[in-house]
Parts: sequence; structure tokens; C-alpha cells
Amino acid sequence: MSSNLFRTKKVEQSIRDTEEPEHALRKSLSALDLTVFGVGVIIGTGIFVLTGTVAKNNAGPAVSLSFVVAGVVCGLAALCYAEFASTVPVAGSAYTFSYASLGELPAWTIGWDLVLEFALGTAVVAVGWSGYVRSLLDNAGWHIPEYLSGRDGAHGFGFDILAAALVLVLTAILVLGMKLSARVTTVVVAIKVTVVLLVIIAGAFFIDSRNYDPFVPKAQPGEAGGNLKAPLIQLMFGWTPSNFGVMGIFTAASVVFFAFIGFDIVATAAEETRHPQRDMPRGILGSLFICTALYVAVSIVVTGMQKYSKLSVDAPLADAFKAIGHPWYAGVISFGAAVGLTTVCMILLLGQTRVFFAMSRDGLLPRFFSHVHPRFRTPHRPTILLGVIIAVVAGFTSLSELAELVNIGTLFAFVVVAVSVIILRRTRPDLHRSFRTPWVPFLPILSVCASLWLMLNLPAETWLRFAIWMVIGFFVYFLYGRTHSRLAREQAPDPGGTEQQPSGSGG
Ligand code: ALA
Repeated sequence: MSSNLFRTKKVEQSIRDTEEPEHALRKSLSALDLTVFGVGVIIGTGIFVLTGTVAKNNAGPAVSLSFVVAGVVCGLAALCYAEFASTVPVAGSAYTFSYASLGELPAWTIGWDLVLEFALGTAVVAVGWSGYVRSLLDNAGWHIPEYLSGRDGAHGFGFDILAAALVLVLTAILVLGMKLSARVTTVVVAIKVTVVLLVIIAGAFFIDSRNYDPFVPKAQPGEAGGNLKAPLIQLMFGWTPSNFGVMGIFTAASVVFFAFIGFDIVATAAEETRHPQRDMPRGILGSLFICTALYVAVSIVVTGMQKYSKLSVDAPLADAFKAIGHPWYAGVISFGAAVGLTTVCMILLLGQTRVFFAMSRDGLLPRFFSHVHPRFRTPHRPTILLGVIIAVVAGFTSLSELAELVNIGTLFAFVVVAVSVIILRRTRPDLHRSFRTPWVPFLPILSVCASLWLMLNLPAETWLRFAIWMVIGFFVYFLYGRTHSRLAREQAPDPGGTEQQPSGSGG
């Protein structure tokens, strides 16, 4: 039984599966497409919304250091992702990687984790988008009734009609095909990056150096001890929960980490890439590098324009310009944010439907979902199913705590990927790796420690929710996936009942 749980899928098998015509995705993406995809999904709610929240509550102007910390954690993980994506160029990202190295149960765990994290991430960003759009509509004198503006604004019933509508429209675009969505993405990413550059360049002229004093505000007691809202690390060591100070930088880093989510999704499109071995590492590392530089610059500028304690938590970038008497800039920034968040939503949605698709192709979820559309060559069934569910979730959900849940899930995936790099190097040294993670096993181990450190800086209640989520996943696996797995059927015992060995162990 335990050998069944850790049966691995051969890398060659994963690649062969993608070549079956019925299940094959179209290979149309280049390194530039991937970088655009990366930047398209990475820059979003994190920089446009969370910068203000964490500067105000956790880190002060040192939030720029938090972005550096989160960027380094992601950089380490990216070096591991890049090796796997160039070795196993198959849809499904960390899920596929771990199926090839750790075994079926760990792969299921990570796939379950990824589908739901991306789903919540999509919902979070859709709700953030709807906030910006409402503020633009308000400026134009069009007010959406409160009961159609989401849970936060309404008394009693509230449904965020804009967020739900966005998710449904994007679902339709994805069903129609990758190429169309890549083209749309390119235009939107250009607008978003222009707006971010506008904040950096125009804002630099309004920096008042007094706003940087103190750069790292002194630690202040947080909420009462023993509170589940405190970072787990502070509870574990019995420290008085505190905000600001050096620990505040790490707390902030574990939240602004959300701003980097997305580079890993580039890896989920490996199967649709023309030259995955060469282009995948370029796409992942390139988009991550560009975004880190922009985030650090934006956070330095914004905390220099306005005292951190006065930053707005809803639209900090736009409101910083309003505060210094430039509402025109604020309007342009709000517009860019609303446009930019659209691509973030779309690519999160794309990434998770691809993971779902890969899992159903392996029989861990119903095979019904693994058939591509005969004309559009897209996995239309999981796209539509998940799109509708997320639209409902986005309609009824408020975003704040969900972002932390998304973070813990993604960091968990980073840990699994880093461990998988080490394992696959030992079990399959023969595989062609056009990109090799440097300093194995030192760098992957560092990546594991760095991801765990950020996880420990997340609130205890986030850990609790994550645990519940995972337990549900185990039930689904044991009740469905374990017996329906394609690998299980291929390795089914012969009539004599001989026990099977995992196919990938040792080769
Ligand atoms: N990184 C994406 C964002 O910040 C998910 O919205």
C-alpha cells in the first residue's frame, strides 16, 4: 500500500502523455510570451494594494526591504522551478514535477494545494479589481448599489457582481484559446508596466526624505498574546506578538509575497511552449527579476511621498498622488490598476485549469476533464467548471484573509519543488536538463528554509485553515484518486496478484 502511495510517474511517460492527439495542447508560446505572461500575473494586487497595508501596519518605509526578502525567497524557488520546467515540459507545474520525483500522494497533495490556491488567488484579485473599477465608476458619477458591491460594503446580502462578471468573461476568453489570450495579455501588460513606471518616475519628484525617518519603525506590541492572528513563529517561541521592528519586516514579507505569486505559473504553460528547455528558465527568471526591481522602486517612492502611517490601504499608489494634490495622476493609476488586475486574474485562472487538466489526465480527477476542445485545443471543461465556481466565490468573498491562505499554499509548493529537484537529481541523473539549478543540494535546501521561514511568519490561523484544507484533499484522494489513477491501472496487479513496485523508483 505505501509503495502505491509513492508510485512515481516516469518523466518520459509524462512527456508521452502530452503527445496523445486527444489530450495535446497547442505549442505556440515563445520566451517573450512567457515573460509577458509572468509580468502579467506577477504585478497585481500585491503592489497596487498590499504595499500600503503592510507599510502602515507592519514595516513602515522598510516595506521595500520586505519586497527584497520576498523577492529573494522567490528567486531561490525560481531557480528550482526553472530546472524542473526545462526537464519536465508538461502542463501542471509543481504537480507534474512532484509526480515524477516524490510519488503520487505528494503529487496529489501539491496539485490539490495549487488548484485551490490559484482559485482563491483569482477570487482575491477579482475582488480587488472590482474595487478599483467601482472607484473609477464613482468618479464618473455611476454608483453600483451596495448589495451588488460585495460582502464588505453591504449589510446583509451582498454579491460582488463586477468581480463575478470579470471571472466569467475571462473564462470565455481562455476557452477560445491561448493565442488570443496571450495577445490580449500583451497589450494589458504594457499598460500596467507603464502605470508602474509612471508611479516611480513621477513620484520620485515628490519624495520628502523626512518620510523615511524612521526607516525601520520601532517594534510595537501587537494584538494580545496567544492570539491566532499573531505570526506562528512568535507564538511558537512565546515572543510578545509585535508589529514593526526587524520582525515586522519579515511579517510584511510574508504578506507582500502575494505580489510575487505568478512566476511559478509560467511553468504551468511548459507544454504550450515551443522550446521549453531554453525558453522556460528565461521566462521565469526574467519576469521575476523585472518585477522585483519595480516593486522595490515603487515602495521606496510611495513611502517617500507620504508618511507610512498615512498611506491608504485601498489604493495606496493612487491616493499618495491625491494626497500631494495630483488627482489626475491618481485617475490614470487607478485605470492602469484596474486594467492590470485583469491579466492577473486571467493567468491565475489559466494556471489552475492547467493543473486540474494534468491531474484529470492522470486519472486522479475524473478523466472527463482531460479532453481538449476539438477546435480551440484548450481544456475547456475544467476551465468552465472552475471559472463558474470562482465567479461565485469572488462574488461572495472578502479578500483580506484569503491572500494569506494563498501565500501559505504557494510557499508549501515551493518547498515541494525544491525537495523534488534534489530527489530527481539522484533518481534520474540521466535526464537532459537544459537548465540546471546551481549548487545542488545547497541551493534547494536554502530555498526550503527560506520558504519555511516566510510560512512561519504567517498567522497561526492561516496554518489552521491550510491544515483543514489539506485534510479534505486527503479524503478526496483516498476516496477517488487512489483507485482511479491512470498509473494505478497501468500497474494493476496481474491475475496472480503479484505486488507491484513503483515504476519510477530509481529510474
Ligand atoms: N502577484 C499577483 C498579485 O499581486 C497575484 O496580484
